[in-house]
Amino acid sequence: MSTARVNALMAQMTTEEKIGQLIQLSADFFQNGQAEITGPMQDKNLTLDIVYSAGSVLGISGAEKVKNIQKDFIEHNRLHIPLLFMADVVHGYQTIYPIPLGLGATFNPELVRQTSEVAARESAAGGIHVTFAPMVDLVRDPRWGRVMESTGEDPYLNSVLAKASVDGYQGNLPLDKEHIAACVKHFAAYGAPEAGREYNTVDLSEWRFREQYLPAYAAAIEAQAMLVMTSFNTLFGVPATVNQHLMRDILRDELNFNGVLISDWDAIAEVMSHGVAADLAKAADLALTAGVDIDMMSFAYAKYLEKASKIDEKTLNLINEAAARVLELKEKLGLFEDPYRGLDVNVEAKEVYSSANLAVAQYAAEESIVLLKNEADILPLQKSMKLALVGPVVTSNDLLGSWSWQGERREKETLAQVFDKNFENIQVEAGCNYHSSDSILEQQAVAAAEKQDVIVAFIGLPSSESGEATSKTDINVPKEQLALLEKLVTLNKPIISVVVTGRPLDLRRVSELSDAVVVAWFPGSKGAVAIENILDGTVSPSGKLPMTFPRNIGQVPIYYNSYRTGRPITNTPEDDVNKYQSKYLDCDNSPLYSFGFGLSYAKLGIKSVDIINDNVNDEQPLVLEVTVINESNFSAKNTLQCYTHQLTGETVRPVKELKQFKKLTFAANSEQKIQITIAKDLLSNVHTNLNCYVDSGKYEVMVGFDSDNVITKSFKVE
Ligand code: IFM
Repeated sequence: MSTARVNALMAQMTTEEKIGQLIQLSADFFQNGQAEITGPMQDKNLTLDIVYSAGSVLGISGAEKVKNIQKDFIEHNRLHIPLLFMADVVHGYQTIYPIPLGLGATFNPELVRQTSEVAARESAAGGIHVTFAPMVDLVRDPRWGRVMESTGEDPYLNSVLAKASVDGYQGNLPLDKEHIAACVKHFAAYGAPEAGREYNTVDLSEWRFREQYLPAYAAAIEAQAMLVMTSFNTLFGVPATVNQHLMRDILRDELNFNGVLISDWDAIAEVMSHGVAADLAKAADLALTAGVDIDMMSFAYAKYLEKASKIDEKTLNLINEAAARVLELKEKLGLFEDPYRGLDVNVEAKEVYSSANLAVAQYAAEESIVLLKNEADILPLQKSMKLALVGPVVTSNDLLGSWSWQGERREKETLAQVFDKNFENIQVEAGCNYHSSDSILEQQAVAAAEKQDVIVAFIGLPSSESGEATSKTDINVPKEQLALLEKLVTLNKPIISVVVTGRPLDLRRVSELSDAVVVAWFPGSKGAVAIENILDGTVSPSGKLPMTFPRNIGQVPIYYNSYRTGRPITNTPEDDVNKYQSKYLDCDNSPLYSFGFGLSYAKLGIKSVDIINDNVNDEQPLVLEVTVINESNFSAKNTLQCYTHQLTGETVRPVKELKQFKKLTFAANSEQKIQITIAKDLLSNVHTNLNCYVDSGKYEVMVGFDSDNVITKSFKVE
């Protein structure tokens, strides 16, 4: 609904000026602008008239730079309509948090809210009005490099964290100057490209899309995210960016989204490559009809400028609708009152990378780290132990991860420095590079390790191998790094492998060769300190896998909440003789490490699960009382996870689905009772008519500290 100011402005605008609002340009088009380039650049000679009528700009920040571009722009724009500045503030602005997959591993919505809030404050001071985040695409295929930017494979976890992130970026509405608008992406199902190949076709039934992929977008929109970005892929046979069913019927009508819909970079023009438009003008028509308000770097909507006086009424109405939405967003951001919203070099200098922000980064990194193996309780390490620090990451210190374009590398705390500060004796020798090695490097590492008590191997992949356009068919740890471990294992010393990665890897051999395995993701600005704090026991690990780690690439896609089949394995000896089952000849069905898995230094156990109310109806939720015992001297956080399973339904049901989780601190040597409630609504499922509602009947509830080791109870829904 347009406000009086927007209506008044619209009344003064020419058609060309309205079209201008729908055009987003990278900062390179503006005087002294130099953008972070996040898509293909075309050599476009836009006239100054077009440039000075654009509605928004992307990929630039910094109080001084933004102020200069805005000032110059307003002086040249006839109605002095300010530009919107947008950028990818994905896991922090200059203070970098763990990659979103790592944030998923925290299972801590309040922490996710906090990281987004700090990122908003820092980037608002740097002139950003809109962040292209959160990405809420559900992911199940580690071949796809962008899994690093998602919070994982589970619809419920993704939904809870999507809301938390939107709340953090936007704060309490109306937006104040310390918060920025969130743009949920990529609508829709970008996370399911066939064979994990970037930008590839997505083919999902609408039933499955609604069951698993739609909920996180819906949660972000319900949390009032102000923008949505279209995705590059096709869905239901039509590229998402021009898909009327997706954008009009589902996004606008069903989810009631009335904010700004922006295309991804060049996505409107790319429908020509998809073969659904013969030329750019047709591509523009299709996108506008689908309801896309802003064209990011396709120059498709600029086509309307060539024939502005001859545009038909239907198209004019669509242009008016879109331009009004862009202007409303500017109004919500307060840009008409103050086009230099929040811009202040002094505030920027004080806010950005402050010690308070770094403290949140450290806390987030510590909560994200997942302990996968800890043979004979080798961890935590004693500070008196002599350590050999090896592996390519120990010298690269590549810990920020992709999408940290503004990430400050001011941090003086390298892995070697942090460990040196905390342990009496360390030796540092990489032993190999990420993908290459030679015998001298290897010998140096072996010689260093020979003198020490424990070997800590920092292995994995560089940040350039995860993020956009980094699909891989091989998810093994590079052979040079495995060869180093094979050499080191002959020394018969404990090996701790710390894996830095943006995606699940095949860790079978690493796990066999190591006494302990820790997944650190890309932990961000305070990553080195966080890793050290986990290894020396200052903090007990509490991260849980938000994505399944397969045994090998052949199991992919593999995820915990799979649907039941007609010939399931029974996990009994009969499986060995029964050929006609849903299984492989050469590999177990089970993954190497399941969703929700992550060890602790505390010895926690579930003593009992009591159902307080087992008859669920509209008034009465399912209520459980779980008793947890901690039989150790460690006070530690852990996440209690609650899954349900519907025994029979109209459609097949997943073997289990996460419905609730609670991250809590369990005091040393304690017993604690925790109440868990699950409202009836959370048990709804999508039916063959695509409607979503709860079925009455028999259900099971499973409680555990991961998705595998659970205690199961039954309940009924009326
Ligand atoms: O926000 C991104 C998107 O996720 C991928 N293409 C480029 C956009 C803008 O940088």
